[in-house]
Amino acid sequence: MLVGGQGTRLRPLTISAPKPMLPAAGVPFVAHQLARARAAGVDHVVLATSYRAEMFEAYFGDGSAVGLDLEYVTEDVPLGTGGGLRNVADRLRSDDVVVFNGDILDGHDIASQVKRHRDAGAAVTLYLTRVSDPRAFGCVLIDSAERVLAFKEKDPNPTTDLINAGCYVFRRDVLLSAIEPGQVVSVERQTFPALLASGAVVQAFVDDGYWLDLGTPAAFVQGSSDLVLGRIDSPALPGSPGEFLALPGSRIDPGAVVDGGSTIGAGATVAAGATVRQSVVFDDARIGEGATLTRTALGRGAEVGAGTVLEDVVVGDGARIGAGIELRAGARVFPGAVLEDGAVRFSSDRF
Ligand code: GDD
Ligand code: MG
Repeated sequence: MLVGGQGTRLRPLTISAPKPMLPAAGVPFVAHQLARARAAGVDHVVLATSYRAEMFEAYFGDGSAVGLDLEYVTEDVPLGTGGGLRNVADRLRSDDVVVFNGDILDGHDIASQVKRHRDAGAAVTLYLTRVSDPRAFGCVLIDSAERVLAFKEKDPNPTTDLINAGCYVFRRDVLLSAIEPGQVVSVERQTFPALLASGAVVQAFVDDGYWLDLGTPAAFVQGSSDLVLGRIDSPALPGSPGEFLALPGSRIDPGAVVDGGSTIGAGATVAAGATVRQSVVFDDARIGEGATLTRTALGRGAEVGAGTVLEDVVVGDGARIGAGIELRAGARVFPGAVLEDGAVRFSSDRF
């Protein structure tokens, strides 16, 4: 599992935690992926870490609590997706290796992908999905037998809506021979195109079910909410799906409205008259009377004053947003920042 990225697009949340360790539906996001892998029959996972590497092991330890044998390999200097894979190759125990990008929420059938890989005798088998705008992804051309013809990462002028969905089955000997050790290598920009050029069998496994890359704030709150609502199943969801998830030790005033798949973290409070929709409220955060949060991520221990409106906002850990403030449209408040009462508004009218 590749979990070494910096999570730049999710700043400031990723200043204190790497993207895969951000809480989605009450547990670190990567716990959902680990549970899915486990359910598909995977028993040993190597986490290829770099940025904030120590946080993974501190939470998951040897993996026994999640039913897996977990190992950690840290890149002092990030080696890229291919370099990171090559760097863990000597820890991999089976002939076929399932590789996961650490920021994907999806429902594809991992076991069927492995079967497709073996049936096709492929060097590598890529899980693909369709998106309306493929430019931010790896664009993939296939033939009628779902054999991959071309792979172009972040193609500005895509001729397909099929993209790399971030889960591969690799033959281990291919990982060893196709990627130079000790180098920075992109599996998407270098390894896949090189394998195709050499005539290797690169197979596709297309699935049109639920798929989301949680790399942006909007996708992160969407993914967490979808998990809570049960739009995508996860064996790691604490409890059953519902309108919201309140972690033990949270307090929601009976006069508050919490819905849309919101999560209220441990020790967090929501005061009377407040509304929290499709949002992720981290542990120990506090939401004041009559405040309204929509599609917002509120960092650990952050505070929101009375009557404040936050829509599509990311608030860093420990920030204090006063009363009567209005923030919208992707605003990012950095950790520990203090906004005095009424300090920022997007409209001139009082509400
Ligand atoms: N170990 C390690 N080392 N992991 C890394 C490194 C590194 O140097 N760089 C990135 N990763 C991890 C990230 O943590 C993430 O889990 C995964 O590799 C993919 O990196 P992203 O930064 O999220 O890439 P992306 O979303 O722009 O594109 C990738 O995912 C798309 C699907 O969401 C590519 O694989 C695209 O082809 C694909 O379509
Ligand atoms: Mg990504």
